[in-house]
Amino acid sequence: MTRGFIGISVLFSLFSCVALIGQSSKRALDVQGHQWWQHAVFYEIYPRSFADSNNDGIGDLNGIASKLDYLKDLGVDAIWLTPFFPSPQVDFGYDVSDYQAIDPMYGSLADFDTLAAAAKKHGIRLILDFVVNHTSDQHKWFVDSKSSRTSQHRNWYIWRDGKGPGQPPNNWTSTFGGSTWKFDPATNQYYYHYFYPEQPDLNWRNPAVKQAMFGVTRWWYKRGVSGFRLDAVDTMFEDPNLKDNPVRPGKSVYGDPLQEHKYNTKQPEIHQALRGLRKVTDEYNGVLIGETWTADINELNEYYGKGNNELQLPMDFLFTNVNKLSPAEFRKQIAAINSASGWPTFVISNHDIVRSYDRYGDGQHNDDIAKLMAALYLTLRGTPILYYGEEIGMKTTPPARKEDVKDPKGRTGWPTDKGRDGERTPMQWDQSDNAGFTKAKPWLPVPPTAKTHNVADEQRDPASILSFYKQLLKLRHTNKELLDGSYLPVNQNDENVLSYLRVFEDQAVLVALNMSGTAQKINYELKRNGFASAKPLATTGNSSSSGDFVSLGPYAVFIGQLVR
Ligand code: NOJ
Ligand code: CA
Repeated sequence: MTRGFIGISVLFSLFSCVALIGQSSKRALDVQGHQWWQHAVFYEIYPRSFADSNNDGIGDLNGIASKLDYLKDLGVDAIWLTPFFPSPQVDFGYDVSDYQAIDPMYGSLADFDTLAAAAKKHGIRLILDFVVNHTSDQHKWFVDSKSSRTSQHRNWYIWRDGKGPGQPPNNWTSTFGGSTWKFDPATNQYYYHYFYPEQPDLNWRNPAVKQAMFGVTRWWYKRGVSGFRLDAVDTMFEDPNLKDNPVRPGKSVYGDPLQEHKYNTKQPEIHQALRGLRKVTDEYNGVLIGETWTADINELNEYYGKGNNELQLPMDFLFTNVNKLSPAEFRKQIAAINSASGWPTFVISNHDIVRSYDRYGDGQHNDDIAKLMAALYLTLRGTPILYYGEEIGMKTTPPARKEDVKDPKGRTGWPTDKGRDGERTPMQWDQSDNAGFTKAKPWLPVPPTAKTHNVADEQRDPASILSFYKQLLKLRHTNKELLDGSYLPVNQNDENVLSYLRVFEDQAVLVALNMSGTAQKINYELKRNGFASAKPLATTGNSSSSGDFVSLGPYAVFIGQLVR
């Protein structure tokens, strides 16, 4: 049994003030000073894998539209759609060949408008993925850029002479393997690509590029979208002198010497570009979410911008680096993000990383642990972004054979890096063939776990992961403390249970998360702090409370309202 002192009466007065975030945009604040994106729950959809309406094996916009009732019922306020623009699909849409159209495999602009209208009726906002760093090599800008050294778009990309015959301009290596430079014999120069060679980097130093890209966002805002998730923000600029990156000992999974991406990521010029994008966003009361792989909170702070004039929601990937159920490590990370200069953004999974089910699961209590993780990121102070399938406990299922791999880097990196197919498998709607995702052969196989983890079955089961997600999201939307309250860690020395309060005015909700495989009984000393007990709001694993005490089964959750 562990004991704890929470000193709540003192802390109420200290923490009941609610920070005014995002002061640069004074629109649409509620009484607490919060904007819509601070209360919204976001849900990431990988369109290829969500729902296939025309049975060609690939998910599409009409498929997404057909699932809006499900999303509403789940408690989602905004969906972020990963790229559905025309693309050769080398990087499954992150190689865009036209920012202002829809790839026919996903539908048409008319389908998009229908989806937007239907989403609006459901009270669900649309967030698009904006691939700012690079285009496809098939984009008309690059086709022209490549055509001659004097073409109109030559300077829209980064072209340089090699150091000598067969020698690229510097030592930079691509995050997907090999040099970042590809030689083009037609014009006898190299172009720069941080990702695949089919993804040439745009030259954001060129004002024409900036204006064109700002214009793209304006065009979509006018079409009704509510914001963008900006792809690969860290890589938008490179050192103008192309200095060699420092080399580290060892080799990457692709066989390249390891290096610190000092001169081709996180360059200071990024911020000016972000401020420009934000200016357009503010005209439409939109939101900018960032794919920001920061090393620490200081770097994350830079992305909020001075006076919060850059990204409203830079994702805190440091949180995903806590890869074990360690209360101490989560405490540290949550404290860090709460000290940040902007509003926290929580993700635990996405289309690039192994799903949380596998990262935290112990192979025995995975469903309980999935609920535990849900209770964590959905009750923290900040905006959560759910990845599709997390709510039913989808498991990462990587290809078994190299020849089945779809993600190119999974072939280069095989078998150490099997690519990202495993976290992109089709959504598991029911137990029918192909999990109700398609009637054709799906582009990626449906994992066997569709038989045990699917929407239809879990909707019927009050003890399912899905039912718990729904319960949590409902609570989040209705409970003032969870919506607007400050975060206050308690019982900070407990090695097994992560406990915190969400405090709003003179009310508090207690969240207790047992991150261990053994039962725990905790004394919160409620009486001494002016409370009679904690009344359960949402629990798992037969958790209960009595007076000062909360009892938790292995990996169990207790969320309770403190009552006087
Ligand atoms: C990040 C995206 O999430 C990932 O899927 C993609 O491969 C790279 N950026 C390049 O666009
Ligand atoms: Ca389809």
